[in-house]
Amino acid sequence: MTYQNLLLETRDRIARITVNRPEKLNALNRATLEEMDRAFRSLAADPAVGAVILTGSGTKAFIAGADINELASLTAAEGRDFALFGQEILNRMETLGKPVLAAVNGYALGGGCEVALACTLRIASAAAKFGLPEVGLGIIPGYGGTQRLPRLVGRGRAQEMILTGEMVDAAEAHRIGLVSQVVPAEELMARTEALAGAILSRGPLAVRCALDAVHHGLDMPLGEGLAYEAALFSLLCASEDMKEGTKAFLEKRKAGFRGR
Ligand code: COA
Repeated sequence: MTYQNLLLETRDRIARITVNRPEKLNALNRATLEEMDRAFRSLAADPAVGAVILTGSGTKAFIAGADINELASLTAAEGRDFALFGQEILNRMETLGKPVLAAVNGYALGGGCEVALACTLRIASAAAKFGLPEVGLGIIPGYGGTQRLPRLVGRGRAQEMILTGEMVDAAEAHRIGLVSQVVPAEELMARTEALAGAILSRGPLAVRCALDAVHHGLDMPLGEGLAYEAALFSLLCASEDMKEGTKAFLEKRKAGFRGR
């Protein structure tokens, strides 16, 4: 599969997607979003891929948002399609069944911040900056920012970011729980790969069920979420991986999970 605006390589069961429009700070035009859609569909179906890392090309930007050249001429009907199309792709990333780690190497603004929010985990370089500047353009975030940011950092802090459009630096993003780690820029990829590798060394069915439990549980009342957790727990107790994981612990050896 060939891409104009993405670089894609897989090593050690980790697929690395790099949004590659550095001259436009990796802004998401329609063509790039379509390529992301294609890439994530193929990675979801690829048994050789256990985790995905998403980053931006160059040193300046992760993704500086939706492409404002395209945004500028949207009619109301086109605006709705634009938002729904982006949301659909981000939903697919969020429910890929495999962890997607954002290695945020610079500006993550607007749609770029929203892409990061739809990832399983966000690791930021110390130079990263996050923001939802849409209100400054006379619009609101349309790829899930008004929904995922408050769920992640709380309503008050999210509303401050959404209503002012101001950026926060990596340290502040870490303080409010928008990213789980901040690392020196030169270590970003290695540290993100190490994190993906740690997840990949665990029981693959368990990782998948854990993603599912957290994702769906967040939309449920506590009682239903707990029942869902118990059902997935029970399912895993019937897996070969569970027998192997517990046996390996008791025999003081490394588990050899097979994803069954
Ligand atoms: N859409 C389209 N082009 C974008 C873009 C976007 N979201 N963000 C950056 N670019 C382009 C710039 O137009 C410029 O292109 P040019 O060289 O052809 O003029 C190039 O990327 C470099 O950006 P520039 O603004 O010169 O860099 P800077 O270091 O001065 O500023 C930012 C960096 C990120 C602060 C600034 O580019 C910015 O505010 N971008 C828009 C962010 C935004 O509002 N995103 C939400 C969109 S909904």
